[in-house]
Parts: sequence; C-alpha cells; structure tokens
Amino acid sequence: MHDILPEDQFLYERIWRVVDDVAKFYGFGKIDTPVVEDAALYEKGTGMATDIVEKQMYTLKTKGGDMLALRPEFTPGIVRSYIQHGMIAMPQPVKLYTYGPLFRYEHPQAGRFRQFHQVDFEVFGEQSAALDAQIVQIFYIILKELKFSHLIIEVNSIGDSQCRPYYKKLLANYLRPRQNSLCADCRRRIRENPLRTLDCKEEKCQRVRAQAPQIIDHLCEECKSHFKSLLEFLDEADLPYHLDPYLVRGLDYYTKTVFEIYSEKPAEAIKEAAQKGASLSPRLRESEAGDPLGRGEETVQRSALVGGGRYDGLVKLLGGKDVPASGAAAGVERIISLMKEMQLVPLPAEGLAKIFLAQLGDLPKKKSLKLLEEFRKAKIQIAESLGRDSLRTQLARADKLGVEYTLILGQREVIDETIVVRKMDTGEQQIVKLDKVVEEMKQKLKK
Ligand code: HAM
Repeated sequence: MHDILPEDQFLYERIWRVVDDVAKFYGFGKIDTPVVEDAALYEKGTGMATDIVEKQMYTLKTKGGDMLALRPEFTPGIVRSYIQHGMIAMPQPVKLYTYGPLFRYEHPQAGRFRQFHQVDFEVFGEQSAALDAQIVQIFYIILKELKFSHLIIEVNSIGDSQCRPYYKKLLANYLRPRQNSLCADCRRRIRENPLRTLDCKEEKCQRVRAQAPQIIDHLCEECKSHFKSLLEFLDEADLPYHLDPYLVRGLDYYTKTVFEIYSEKPAEAIKEAAQKGASLSPRLRESEAGDPLGRGEETVQRSALVGGGRYDGLVKLLGGKDVPASGAAAGVERIISLMKEMQLVPLPAEGLAKIFLAQLGDLPKKKSLKLLEEFRKAKIQIAESLGRDSLRTQLARADKLGVEYTLILGQREVIDETIVVRKMDTGEQQIVKLDKVVEEMKQKLKK
C-alpha cells in the first residue's frame, strides 16, 4: 500500500477526467459502492476457488460478529447494488461505471499492489455481443485518449454452463496422464478447475497445454454464434484483436466472452530503459526470450492493463433475476507506471502556468493573495512563491517554470497601485495599473 504524493495526483485526475468524459458520452451512470462488504458476497460472487478469495482477501470481524471484506474487486458489489435497488425495473441495459481503491493481499511486485485503483464499467440486461464489444471499445478509447499507441486486445470464449462442463472433463482427461509434467499448482487445478492450467506461466505447463484440446472447438451453438458475432463487432469497430485460446481469466463468474488489453512498447524503448538501468519485470524478461503468441519482434513488452468479460450467471447467483451482464476493469497504477515509462505524462497544472507573480516585502505579499484570487476567477493559471522574499530567487523559479511573463509587485507599485510586467525572453518591462492587470494579461496571452 502506498501514498499518492502531490506530484502524482494530476495523473490520477487526468485518468478520472478521461473516464468521466467517455462514460458520459456512452451513457454510463456513476455509482459508488462501499469499500467494505460482507465477505460472503465475494466468496459467492468472485468464487471460493479463485486466488482472490482463497489467498488475497483482507477480511475483518466486526464487534457485532459480522465477517466483512475490504473489496478486492468492484463487480460483486455493483451486482449487489443493482439487485438491492431494483434496477431490473429500469429500462435495460443499465450501464454503470466507477473508480476507486481496491485491496488484495499480494506479494508486492511491479504492477501488483495491496491497495490499488481500478476503473470499472458494467452493463446489465443485454445479451448481445454488441455490448461486449462496446465494453472493449470503451477501454480501448480510454487508453488511446491517454496516448497509448501499441495496444493489443486478446479475446477468447470460455463457453457457458451448456458446453464448459464437457470441455472441462475433456481437458482433465487430457491432463491427468500428463500430471507429472505439470507444476504442483496445476496438478491441484486438474481437480479443482482444469481451465486455470491454461493460463499458468510455468514453462513446463505451457508445453503440456500446447497439445491440449481448445475450448473454441467445443463451444455449443449459442456460444459459438455469440463469439462469432463479437468478432464481427470488433472488426467493424476497427479494434485490433488477437484470439488467445488460452485466455481464461482468474475469476469464476465469466461466461462466453473474456478479454484482456495489453500495452506493448517498441523494443527500442525497452533497450533504452535497460541501458538506463531500469529493472526488467519477469514478464518482460519472459517476453524478451520470444513472444509466446508469435507477434512481431517489434512489440515485446506486455502488461495487462484491462481485464473483463461477460458474466450472465452472476446476478442470479447473488439472488437477483436471470439478468445477462458484461463488464471490465482497468488497473490505474499499471496505466500510470506505463505512462511514466513511455513518457506519455501530461504536464501538471503548475507547469502550464504562463505567468509568475513575484512580490517584494510585506505589503506586496498581502496584496498578492487578493490578486492571485482575481487570476483564479479569470481562469488564468498563475504560479507564485509567496514564501520567498528575494527577487533573484523568485525570478530563477519563474525561469525554471518556463513562464512567459513575471509580474513584479514591490512596495512602490503597491503605493502607486501599479505592477511591473516583465516579458521573460526579452527582459522588457512595462508598468500596468493593478486593477487592469488581469485583463491586460488575458489580452497578452491571447496574442
Ligand atoms: P482483474 O483481472 O482481477 O478483473 O483486474 C482487472 C485489472 O486490475 C488487471 O488487469 C490489472 O490491471 C488491475 N489489477 C488487478 N490486481 C492488481 C493489483 N494487485 N495491483 C495493481 N493492479 C491490479 C477484475 O477485477 C474484474 N472485476 C473485472 C471485470 C469487471 N469483469 C467484469 N466486470
């Protein structure tokens, strides 16, 4: 768990702004659910056999004896809220989005934190693959707006209660005679959930899975046609996707569509980072050895920024009606760390200031507070350094910020009700009436 310091706040704010704009355009309403819920909600919703519930949930017992959990994901809480507030009675689909902190007990490492933030979008009450595609598109657009360029969408279908049980049996039958070639976790998974062996990162397990039957070949008619229609929607929307037959995701509630979005960055950038001594994540080292999915050598780093899919059984499982649903979530810290690594970072507001206010002495300092507020009201960003007294230090700071103008307010100016406007590149100075300076600067900046 970590602090978010002032110098990083603007990155979060930038993401919230992009997300709010996209959500508004696509008709999503914002929802906030509590940070703690009954632990049973996640045990049932996220799934008892998932890593999240089994190993990563922070639980606490209240004085009244209730067992609560810090939310490890948004989806079950939003489903609970949909049911509790009778949203089934509203015109469907009901489109909701949220962002905020989540908690998972993880081994801290690059891209994995114990407190992290997600942006989450969910749609209820619509079966069509068009909505799955729209969720994919929304996250793709958000990442594009944040200036990511090398994005890859991986999709798969993991079937439903009609076809998945048969496939699971088939897969278990294939794995059982080969269990000595699998890691200990996968040996256990054969019994508990053989699907999870497909996304195991161990090399020996990946060798075994290479010959395994693929779920795509064993989908029922309904799932097959849903998947086909999803791919058509993605094609139509020009969303660049790959089929990944091994993508299963670590949560129990998915049916049919599952997807993830990765960011890849050019090999050049990675080399550069390595030269600068940046430590390479295991995933990066793994992909340096060759891309397991056979994509070009140009784009090697892969980092799952977004994960989601359809979950048609969850509303019913949590006590509601039989309502289909689809959604996804993006990891905000992963987005931010890649933005920094790939230098996609926008300037913080202070860096956008084109004017600096320098003051010399007590009286000018007092006048400065009021003057700054006039600039704020006029929506003109202005930087200052009220704690400093020497003109030299203040001009040096103005220089460092790269402002175009510095306003200098000394004792004499206060008495004359004027202020000096200094153009930083030429050093040219002009005296302006104090009560006209906001208007004057507005005109100058327009030019
Ligand atoms: P998830 O795959 O567990 O899915 O998480 C989604 C994203 O959250 C990941 O791709 C990653 O970017 C980020 N994330 C997960 N764990 C951590 C962590 N410990 N530290 C930093 N980032 C992390 C879900 O949570 C589903 N609820 C998504 C969903 C919504 N499916 C349907 N609707």
